[in-house]
Amino acid sequence: MELVQLRSITKKLTMGALGAFLLIFIPIHMGLNLCILRADGGQWYRAACHFMGTNYIVKIFEVVLFAIILFHIILGIILAIQNKLARPIAYQVPHKTKTHFGSKYMIWTGIIILCFLILHFTNFYFAKVGLVQGKYVANFEKVDKAFQEKAQKMQAGKLSEEESVAIQNQYQAIQSIPPDKISKDYKYLVNLSKNDVKTYCGKDFKEYEPDFYQMANELFKNNMYCLIYLLVFVVFGIHLYHGVASVFQTFGLNASENCNKNIDRFSLLYAIIIPIGFALVPLFVMFYR
Ligand code: HEM
Repeated sequence: MELVQLRSITKKLTMGALGAFLLIFIPIHMGLNLCILRADGGQWYRAACHFMGTNYIVKIFEVVLFAIILFHIILGIILAIQNKLARPIAYQVPHKTKTHFGSKYMIWTGIIILCFLILHFTNFYFAKVGLVQGKYVANFEKVDKAFQEKAQKMQAGKLSEEESVAIQNQYQAIQSIPPDKISKDYKYLVNLSKNDVKTYCGKDFKEYEPDFYQMANELFKNNMYCLIYLLVFVVFGIHLYHGVASVFQTFGLNASENCNKNIDRFSLLYAIIIPIGFALVPLFVMFYR
């Protein structure tokens, strides 16, 4: 029995530690998203995404993050089943003890967030790993460098007939590139489909990245997606309210009545500010862009 209890405590502590990590990731993600609101044609947001997509420390962080999310989900399900098994027969009389708001719905709000994450990854992240088609961005300087290298090879007679025709076509295509595919600061080719990448950057150009700025703007112009995201943010708030309080509780930081009140205030504030911060993006795109 003691062993089972110990295991259960270990699970709770692990859940708390995983939760704490996620509570740090979430405001960072929200803060980066808010760059979309800047009226700079996506300059800040694209720069932030480029940093997140290319920095090696961030890449390691991403693997850790995915492992933690997965572990958090698995442990959450195990804990929910364990709690259910601990009290197999529901109370006959309605139970009036004071429970923290949201605590009863953690598994359900969690499942909704999991479904949201699958949708969310299909909307954005999977474009990065090539599982779905997205919109792409390429640095003009890199495109130009690759082009110049090929042009030199052509002049030296090192390209086949087919390759020479391709590079001439690329040159012509770049001359007539539409303005919506050039960034405000003229440093990037943006809003590119995979076909555009081949046309403007060359068939074997590989240094393009997903244009998450364009993808977010296109996604939230769709009212249905806006509604789904906004509804999920409400559910997210409910999950966070109990989740934040629970992390403090797990680590024994709720020592006094006063502490409890402060934890509750902080959890409430976190659970309100974070969903509002996330919701600003779809609302702004829907109404102002
Ligand atoms: C308006 C709301 C949101 C927008 C515009 C947004 C946008 C994005 C984008 C563009 C990416 C890909 C970033 C990259 O790989 O470089 C991403 C990844 C991700 N998002 Fe969101 N997101 C939103 C809300 C959320 C919420 C509420 C959650 C958590 C429940 C979440 C969790 C994640 C995770 C776990 C990843 C993968 C890790 C990463 O690449 O950073 N996102 N999101």
